[in-house]
Amino acid sequence: MKKALLLGLALGFVLSTLIITEALAQADGAALLEERCSVCHPSARPKSKQKTAEQWEATVSRMMGKGARLAEEEKQILVDYLSKTYKP
Ligand code: HEC
Repeated sequence: MKKALLLGLALGFVLSTLIITEALAQADGAALLEERCSVCHPSARPKSKQKTAEQWEATVSRMMGKGARLAEEEKQILVDYLSKTYKP
């Protein structure tokens, strides 16, 4: 009985961590877009596009080549967010 309770607690903890991580990644993606992608042009520029994950990956890499400042981890979060939010 006690074991099942502990297991339930552990499972609940793992699940809530996953959900929170996902929510944070969403918020981070939006924040990164506003912060890092509005330096040279308004963030409306990427927002007006609809691209697949591969295309967003290519676009963000191209923007980084121009001077967009993103760490590798931030790039992943942003590409993930863009491909989920602005897809064809
Ligand atoms: C250092 C300046 C700079 C930053 C920072 C920047 N861009 Fe750009 N972006 C440009 C320039 C210049 C163009 C127009 C010329 C071109 O398309 O190559 C452009 C064009 C675009 C376009 C339209 C062309 C296309 O490929 O669809 C999109 C979308 C875009 N940027 C997205 C982004 C995103 C997303 C970010 C954030 C990671 C970003 N940009 C950050 C300079 C920048």
